Amino acid sequence: MSAIGLGTWQFGSMEWGYGKEYLEKDAIDIVHRALDLGINVLDTAEIYGFGKSERAVGRAIDGRRDDAFIATKVFPVLPIAPVVEQRGRASARRLRVETIDLYQIHQPNALVPLSQQMEGMRRLQQAGVVRHVGVSNFSLDRWRAAEAEFGSPVISNQVQYSLAVRAPDRKGLMQHAADNERIVIAYSPLAQGFLAAKYDATNAPGGVRAANSLFLPENLERGHELITALREVAKTHDATPAQIALAWVIRRKNVVAIPGASSVAQLEKNAAAADIELTDDEDARLTTASDNFNPISGPRALPKLLRKRLPF
Ligand SMILES: NC(=O)c1ccc[n+]([C@@H]2O[C@H](COP(=O)([O-])OP(=O)(O)OC[C@H]3O[C@@H](n4cnc5c(N)ncnc54)[C@H](OP(=O)(O)O)[C@@H]3O)[C@@H](O)[C@H]2O)c1
Repeated sequence: MSAIGLGTWQFGSMEWGYGKEYLEKDAIDIVHRALDLGINVLDTAEIYGFGKSERAVGRAIDGRRDDAFIATKVFPVLPIAPVVEQRGRASARRLRVETIDLYQIHQPNALVPLSQQMEGMRRLQQAGVVRHVGVSNFSLDRWRAAEAEFGSPVISNQVQYSLAVRAPDRKGLMQHAADNERIVIAYSPLAQGFLAAKYDATNAPGGVRAANSLFLPENLERGHELITALREVAKTHDATPAQIALAWVIRRKNVVAIPGASSVAQLEKNAAAADIELTDDEDARLTTASDNFNPISGPRALPKLLRKRLPF
């Protein structure tokens, strides 16, 4: 797996507001350029655009299957074994592949026992529809429990991780991956563009990101120290803040970052981030700025988010 992968939630396009042409043309160009540049991890999910993202990835890898490591996810509405099995086969069909390289449970489901979910995964693996099994948004305990049920490695846990969101550090996930030859797949490694240092209170993104509390004016303000650190480190590497944010993520052991991209140019920048070598001092400076970043979130952010979305 390449240290930088490509997230393709954006290919569902509606949620991100990138438009039809993005899905039909740019998405394909982005995947082709990613493969050209040695990015092999392509992360999608059945839920992204209700199959549109998987179909776009399938179209894009036509003739280049062997260059790609395809990761997709089952959305666990009723993840009993036969349903997981059927959904895995449907994803493989949309992706036009015989075997999905990594099949992940998108989110925990507290109602259906893990034994059922993992039994579905086992059947898919035995049938050759799935090569490796992973989870997403799982706590460390639940990840371990999934692995115990599965009886062999559940190789990865895809979680939100970036300089702006460090919960996986505090919750032991990063250490677990580093110590046990498991992988953390870091989603939203750019905090959905927050770490690209291009948004401010007068220019915040809409679409799905209108619900991301990081883009509240108060949090953009609170992010000043972190964004300044990113800008300054970026200057010494002749890089962009977004590239430095990615370089910081993949400097952690056994971590793959899967940034999404709204253009080929962004994809190229993200691929190049794999070659940036941060010094220990730079790493420490960014980590401290991240430690000091204390955005409002959860119930405190909700009224402000609602006010932002409603025109009164
Ligand atoms: N498992 C899960 O529950 C889960 C949840 C969320 C995401 N994911 C996966 O993780 C992937 C990535 O997460 P994400 O899309 O939420 O957030 P992200 O990768 O942190 O942010 C992607 C956005 O940042 C901007 N961007 C990307 N590269 C840039 C660059 N070089 N310079 C400046 N801006 C740049 C683009 O938006 P603009 O240009 O429009 O600003 C892009 O759409 C998704 O595509 C999906 O595959 C998984």
